[in-house]
Formats: sequence, C-alpha cells, structure tokens
Amino acid sequence: MKLFLDTGDVREVERAAAWGILDGVTTNPTLIAKSGRGFRETVLDICRLVPGGAISAEVVATDYDTMLREANEIASWHEQVVVKVPLIRDGVQLVKTLSDKGIRTNVTLVFSVTQALMAAKAGATYISNFVGRVDDISGDGMQAVAETVDMVEKYGFDSEVLVASVRHPMHVVESIRCGAHVATMPLKVMDQLFNHPLTDSGLERFIADFKEAGLEIFEKVRA
Ligand code: E4P
Repeated sequence: MKLFLDTGDVREVERAAAWGILDGVTTNPTLIAKSGRGFRETVLDICRLVPGGAISAEVVATDYDTMLREANEIASWHEQVVVKVPLIRDGVQLVKTLSDKGIRTNVTLVFSVTQALMAAKAGATYISNFVGRVDDISGDGMQAVAETVDMVEKYGFDSEVLVASVRHPMHVVESIRCGAHVATMPLKVMDQLFNHPLTDSGLERFIADFKEAGLEIFEKVRA
C-alpha cells in the first residue's frame, strides 16, 4: 500500500520524506491556506522534497470551463503534479477530459461506491474516499472503501483507491485489510505507525545487555 502525507506544510513533508517511505503528498485548499504560503511555491517545494512522488493539488472552481483552465495551469507546474478534482458533475466531466490528455487526476470528496464508480469510469488515477468525516457523523467510513476496492477490482478499472480523511492508525489497519491501494494521512498518524511498546522495551533490553557485557562495535585502536 502506498503512503501519502496529507499536508500543506513543507516542514512536515521534509520530516516524512527523510524516513524514505513516502510515495506522495495530498494537499487541499484548506491545508494550503493553513500553510500561509503561496499555492504554486508550496507545491513546487513539495515536488522537490519527494522526487518522483505523486503530489496532489486541487482546483477551486466548480464549473467545467474554469476548472479546466485551473487544471491546465496546475498541471503545468511540475510533471509530478496530480490534479485534484471534486466529485461533482462538472468535475467528473473534467476528469474524463484530463485523463484523455494523459493528465493524472485525484477525485476528491468521494463518500460512496456509486460516486467512486463515476470517478473510475471517467478515468481517475486516484479515487479519494474520505473515512474520518463519515465516522465523525456516526457513519462507517471504511464501508465505502471496502465496496470501492471490490468494485475497482471486480470490473478491472485502472483507478487506485486512496483512503483519505484518516484520523488514527486503526484507519490504516483497516485500509490494509480492505486492500486499498493508497492511504493519505497527517504527519501525526504516520508517525504513530512506527510505535509498539514491545519495540521500545525490547530495544532498551538489547542495548543494556550489550553494554553490561562490555561489548563495543568500534574496537579501540591500540597506540
Ligand atoms: C485528502 O486528500 C484530504 O485532503 C484529507 O484527507 C481530508 O482530511 P480531513 O477530513 O481530516 O480534513
């Protein structure tokens, strides 16, 4: 499963990129606004920090013609850019146009398997299925993910199912169980994926035993 970082904060991208496990970054207009920096400069910095990664940048218009102009502009910034488009009628039409031109897309704000079907049929590269926002209103966010993975596989669509709006490591566990292709998450959640108390206690013991036995990796050079 690919791991994307969900952020507009370049310092967070730098931190996760250093771990060497990052496949891409997703941004949205809210995250870009929160970064306090320009849209283009932020996206270009992120592309530089994650060489070869898929970097999603979102259009903000809601009518086809304006979205198309925005999409062409955003796509021209860098070859790694994936144009993020909302799951609305004009958005699906735009995804079809962009995919016919070979421009990669990430269809966002997808909450149901029928919406996902529209995105897949239009040729979406990624289908961003939001889970946390559904859980927030007492729904089962992962249900649509499971159905969408099943649908994409059953009918042989090329789209990858991207689990978005991830709030905690259990969402990542469930994404793996569903066979989702990608999960995007805030830095806090990605950082939590490393943790296990038995790793901490086990490591402490290994180091203590080694030291207690007077062992060293670098032996002292005799004068
Ligand atoms: C994904 O691409 C979205 O930007 C993001 O996952 C939304 O997450 P939120 O529901 O925590 O805002």
